[in-house]
Amino acid sequence: MPSQAAAIVLAAGKGTRMKSDLPKVLHRVCGLPMVEHVVRALRGAGVARIVVVVGHGGEAVQSALGDAVEYAWQREQLGTGHAVRCAADALAGHEGPVVVASGDTPLVDAAAMADLLEAHGDNALTVATAVLDEPTGYGRIVRDAQGKPSRIVEQKDATSEEKAIREVNAGLYAFDAATLFRLLPELRADNAQREYYLTDLVHMAAADGLAVGAHTADAALLQGVNDRWQLAEAEASLRKAILKRHALAGVTLRDPATTYVEADVQIGADATIEPGCHLKGLTTIGAGARIGPNTVLENAQIGENAKVQLSVVDASAVADGAKVGPYAHLRGGSRVGKDARIGNFVELKNAELAERVAAAHLTYLGDASVGARTNVGAGTITCNYDGFAKSRTHIGADVFVGSQSTLVAPVTLGDGSMVAAGSVITQSLAPGDAGFGRARQETKEGWATRFRERKKASQP
Ligand code: UD1
Ligand code: CA
Repeated sequence: MPSQAAAIVLAAGKGTRMKSDLPKVLHRVCGLPMVEHVVRALRGAGVARIVVVVGHGGEAVQSALGDAVEYAWQREQLGTGHAVRCAADALAGHEGPVVVASGDTPLVDAAAMADLLEAHGDNALTVATAVLDEPTGYGRIVRDAQGKPSRIVEQKDATSEEKAIREVNAGLYAFDAATLFRLLPELRADNAQREYYLTDLVHMAAADGLAVGAHTADAALLQGVNDRWQLAEAEASLRKAILKRHALAGVTLRDPATTYVEADVQIGADATIEPGCHLKGLTTIGAGARIGPNTVLENAQIGENAKVQLSVVDASAVADGAKVGPYAHLRGGSRVGKDARIGNFVELKNAELAERVAAAHLTYLGDASVGARTNVGAGTITCNYDGFAKSRTHIGADVFVGSQSTLVAPVTLGDGSMVAAGSVITQSLAPGDAGFGRARQETKEGWATRFRERKKASQP
């Protein structure tokens, strides 16, 4: 049955308490917008059609989620019931259950969605509930004499007796589609907030004698985010869950308290993450790799048994067995070959280094390619920019670039060529050539000794 389920995700609200220009549901938790976590949970539970109700900042929400989901617009935010009504046309003719979820519950997972659908069975309506020590702010579940849910009362409409109820509406529901779309037009905004409350459907369905279920769910997974402190708390708990998943899959985390791993990062078994690491975006780390301490990887691909220490890698790949850092910065589009060595204070930008290249100290390689086994001496700089255009430097295989050389692009160093230390290279070298781009040294015999003696003699 879950395969026929559809879902409506409410994401049109302003999120006033976030005090932000960004729509609430686009605030990120462990690297993904909150609403994307909800969409993924639904997908993971086998929900094929997902309609996201957008309004406040709707274009931004659409561009964040792309065309993996459908959209319905709620131009004016008149309440959760009104929001669901805006999605009714999109799901016209749908048979089977409809899950309604909020875009501001980033901790919900596929298992929680699947559990709800299973508990729902053939009910007309099933609401996910949680029992909280501190229920303030949530809608309360009112049960009848038989213990069946009879209605939900919002905080602002509740009597003091109702406020004492600790079972709350988690804001996640499953509905029979026909019942949902039949009852929605009957909602009235006769309440404290003058809004159309989705929660009133519980009372309407129960009064019609329909089967209304309450499914007690894990309160921690259904926490809503309404302000930035709740956002920080959601981040902390999801972060911990992500770290635990990696640890149990065979990754050593030396210090979870200072390790930050976003939702989509993949880490191979027997990798070690040292303290102070931030692993972001679509980063992948191969088995046995050693990352950190104090390393930031964003959209980085790190090979097996590679080592990246005290470095920043952005949108770049490091092949198996390569060593990077300490203090290296790999910028967009760089590739470091197998067993290569990128050392202290080296910056790469859009540079492709083949296997076993060594650029071990104080170097900038930008818009460059470097062939296998080439040694790039300390202090080598590619001059890739003349103030107007970027040009490439091609360095072949088995080249020896002497220290403190300046390679003025566009320029090519053929395979097996050499560059003398301290050269400024402006002309290409054919394979096997050597380039000496420096002034010839003049040696003055005994000059230093004579200079010192003259100076000493003239002291008072
Ligand atoms: C809602 C429930 C409450 C429940 C709580 C759980 C109602 C009336 N109340 O209250 O019983 O305990 O969630 O977190 O449903 N939204 C729209 N359009 C609107 C209004 C809201 O899309 O016109 C969206 C919001 O963007 C948000 C979600 O619906 O994602 C919930 O709205 P919110 O205002 O946060 O509802 P709560 O007051 O938290
Ligand atoms: Ca809320």
